[in-house]
Amino acid sequence: MRAAGHHAVDLVVQRLCTVADGPPHAAAAPAALQPLLGEPLPEEGGDLTGLLDQLTQDVLPLGIRFDHPRCFAFVPTTGNYPAVLADLLSTAHLSVPGAWLVGSGPSAVELTALNWLKQLLGLPDHWGGLFVSGGSLANLTALAAARDHQLGGDLTGARLYCSTQAHPSVARAAHLLGLGRDQLVALEPDPDQRLDPRNLTAQLDADLAAGLRPFAVVATVGTTGTGAVDPVTDLARLCRRHGLWLHVDGAHGAAFALSGRGHDMREALGRADSLTFDPHKWLFQPYETGCVLVRDPELLKATFRMARHHLDTGYLHPAEARHGEVNFDDLGPQQSRGLRALKVWLSLKTFGAAAFRRAVDHGLHLSDHAAARINAHPGLELTSKPSLGILTFRCRPGGGSTDPATVDRLQRSVSDAVRATGQALVLTTRLRGRTVLRMCTINPATTTADIDTALDLAHRAVLAADPRL
Ligand SMILES: Cc1ncc(COP(=O)(O)O)c(C=O)c1O
Repeated sequence: MRAAGHHAVDLVVQRLCTVADGPPHAAAAPAALQPLLGEPLPEEGGDLTGLLDQLTQDVLPLGIRFDHPRCFAFVPTTGNYPAVLADLLSTAHLSVPGAWLVGSGPSAVELTALNWLKQLLGLPDHWGGLFVSGGSLANLTALAAARDHQLGGDLTGARLYCSTQAHPSVARAAHLLGLGRDQLVALEPDPDQRLDPRNLTAQLDADLAAGLRPFAVVATVGTTGTGAVDPVTDLARLCRRHGLWLHVDGAHGAAFALSGRGHDMREALGRADSLTFDPHKWLFQPYETGCVLVRDPELLKATFRMARHHLDTGYLHPAEARHGEVNFDDLGPQQSRGLRALKVWLSLKTFGAAAFRRAVDHGLHLSDHAAARINAHPGLELTSKPSLGILTFRCRPGGGSTDPATVDRLQRSVSDAVRATGQALVLTTRLRGRTVLRMCTINPATTTADIDTALDLAHRAVLAADPRL
């Protein structure tokens, strides 16, 4: 056990210390992986240490290396070493912060980690919640509570609102909660890609006049495409006026509240009824570390409490919470659940909150730097300003083509060409119907030189493209 364990730690340290030496992305086709992994069920066991080597060499490196300093794709978390050890320990201890009886130590860790997250985000003490697998489950959990509280079991005519820029997990949550396609109203955003309160007011008025039942609004703080921030304070006012639940999807962007620039964000988040926050995005945690926080934790209990559901829970009676105990399995959809909170707890204890605040500020500085470089570059054009460490841009065709389809195709080929160099990963997204390049610059190990390298690679890819474009 010790020999294999020491070897595993060596492999982990090697991985963390050398990630920048390789490409930010490696992939293999299914047919190439078949001989390696498509083997029959092993009836007899093998050598653990050798298996660790095989996985580390041949399998686990295949994918996006999110912690690579020139990986700008999606929302690239970095993970961190204390979090790796946290998972090792909690897995060994079979830690379950489910019922207090089952895991009082783990549950206390989760309570503390949640309190620290609330402090980092500027949320009031009375808020509560739990760790979940990620933003998708956080959105589902919060909207389940919203549905039950607001609609009392009758979904007839119910309407949920968001902008078209909300994350698709909002639509999936609506589907899982029994809402039909027409019951999620996705409104066109304003020119800055934000949910427009005037549009929403007009839609609410029309829906109310038609006898429909608006019940909740999802505001996104940090849309995945451009980092746009919906005007939470105005939307909160509107929701209060209409008696609607305001859910804020801050999976990526709530972390802005840690920054010196994030004072207004702290104010705004506290106006929501529920909040999605993913520490596995801008709080540098490994997957799956998501979190849902709500203004009134009793409303989570009203939806999820085991005893509320009408199958025989007799075997759970010994695990009922007593004075002051918290049963996290009463607050969300999972009963047995891992101790995700330990990653947050151990990394905050190891590095201190100040290091996290500095790291968030660094990501903002990098995206400002990228925007300045793009603005100063005749071959590049900023298509959305940096917002929460995300920006989009376009490469201008060398030959001056203005045909939209050609220009869109060029952005995709630039992305492919940059990836093929093995130096950087910059993917595309769609913005106002057009293809643009997108960077999320939140890695604390990324330098301004890394940003410059990625932009130079993009520009060189244009020069290498068909000169007639
Ligand atoms: C705004 C937003 N919400 C929700 C999600 C879904 O989060 P997860 O992938 O952790 O389920 C994402 C993921 O990128 C996101 O950006």
